[in-house]
Amino acid sequence: MSRLVVVSNRVATPTETKGSAGGLAVAVFGALKDMGGVWFGWSGDVVSEAVANAGPNLEVDGAVTFATVGLPRRDYDQYYRGFSNAMLWPVFHYRNDLAVYERDEYAGYRRVNAWLAHKLIKLLEPDDIVWVHDYHLIPFAEALRQQGVGNRLGFFLHIPFPSPQILLNVPPHEELVKSLCCYDLLGFQTATDQTAFHDYIVRHVRGTVGPGGQVEAFGRTLRTGVYRIGVFPDEIAEQAERYESRQHVLELKESLEGRKLIMSVDRLDYSKGLVERFRAFEQLLEKAPEWRGNVTLVQIAPPTRSDVDTYQQIRQHLEYEAGRINGRYSGLDYTAIRYLNQRYDRLKLMSLFRESQVGFVTPLRDGMNLVAKEYVAAQNPDDPGVLVLSCFAGAADELTSALLVNPHDITGMSEALQRALSMPLAERKRRHQASMAVLRENNLGVWRDAFLADLRGVPPISEPAPQP
Ligand code: G6P
Repeated sequence: MSRLVVVSNRVATPTETKGSAGGLAVAVFGALKDMGGVWFGWSGDVVSEAVANAGPNLEVDGAVTFATVGLPRRDYDQYYRGFSNAMLWPVFHYRNDLAVYERDEYAGYRRVNAWLAHKLIKLLEPDDIVWVHDYHLIPFAEALRQQGVGNRLGFFLHIPFPSPQILLNVPPHEELVKSLCCYDLLGFQTATDQTAFHDYIVRHVRGTVGPGGQVEAFGRTLRTGVYRIGVFPDEIAEQAERYESRQHVLELKESLEGRKLIMSVDRLDYSKGLVERFRAFEQLLEKAPEWRGNVTLVQIAPPTRSDVDTYQQIRQHLEYEAGRINGRYSGLDYTAIRYLNQRYDRLKLMSLFRESQVGFVTPLRDGMNLVAKEYVAAQNPDDPGVLVLSCFAGAADELTSALLVNPHDITGMSEALQRALSMPLAERKRRHQASMAVLRENNLGVWRDAFLADLRGVPPISEPAPQP
């Protein structure tokens, strides 16, 4: 069978794949381990031009080669901090108001994609299949094609694909879509994302969409599909149970003194709806005084992309809100919101989820949101907690047994919290069983295998890249 080459902006280290790695790393690494292959991308380090050009750095672990390159400061600024995270990320999450477009950053984004492609080519074998991940790497296939690569190339978008009217806010929108059309297979998290892409193709570039999600545009034919990323729910359940009696869980339980616990875990990102979430919790305490002193919200929010202005602003805003609400409702022996800007080991988190009565996951937009799935999987089936989930997370399509909320409706969210905290055991069990059935059916292996089977099914291509 052909070798798999995975390309993503960040590459997990061999150690991370064995312990604390997140869902994507677990899935990708699982496929690489089984099939043998290469995982290529940025090391996460900013380095001198000379060091960057000397790369990639190769580390072999079993059948997997981790191939990473560092980025020089200017490349990091333009490709990662600039166009990827100050332009594409906000617009694709429907926050045009936060987007900043700089032509030279876009030029840097394309330049780094071409440079990365050039680096990868030296490692590529003719029948490798190449699976590229996420918005940082939209032009990657085009760059490979321009350098003569005919391998099968697949792309999976982990974040939402915005509706065309939103996408038009990215000045080079057409170039980006044309670049996407250089892949052989495009995978989306939900049917909504796939439809948005199709709409753009039909309305803005007069392409066609045929049966099975086949797209013809810019002189190319490619496939599109919906592949919902998942988790391995039974492994999570087992891990959460195994960690149940560890020190960190016992300490948390003791500190709660019998109070109920609402848990939230997100990167500190404005797309996660954290301010609205804090206000919903505040409203619960305001309108239902019986909960004052009797329920705690633990929000774990490790900072991310902290050199992008909008991330500094959301951090300040949230610190203000947490302080304000705690000033109002905490007591000498009680903290209403425990707000932690720290990264926690994933296995630890699963056991904390199991201790909590409510998982509060309310992004304003999210491609999928694996925390929602992990929360459900980590529950004790005999006494499960309740998931309160934003209808704008991709996971809401599948987890219809959660309490679905609109994250802009503060009152609606505070009512859902009330309902979740008081839900009878029989209803909690019923909802949990229904959600677990969905998680098992669409597990992470299904996501990976379905995408790779479809990519293998694409006929090898020989057409050149569309001309500029
Ligand atoms: C999101 C993106 C991923 C990214 C992750 C962490 O989940 O979809 O592509 O790797 O955030 O972001 P960071 O900027 O820290 O790599």
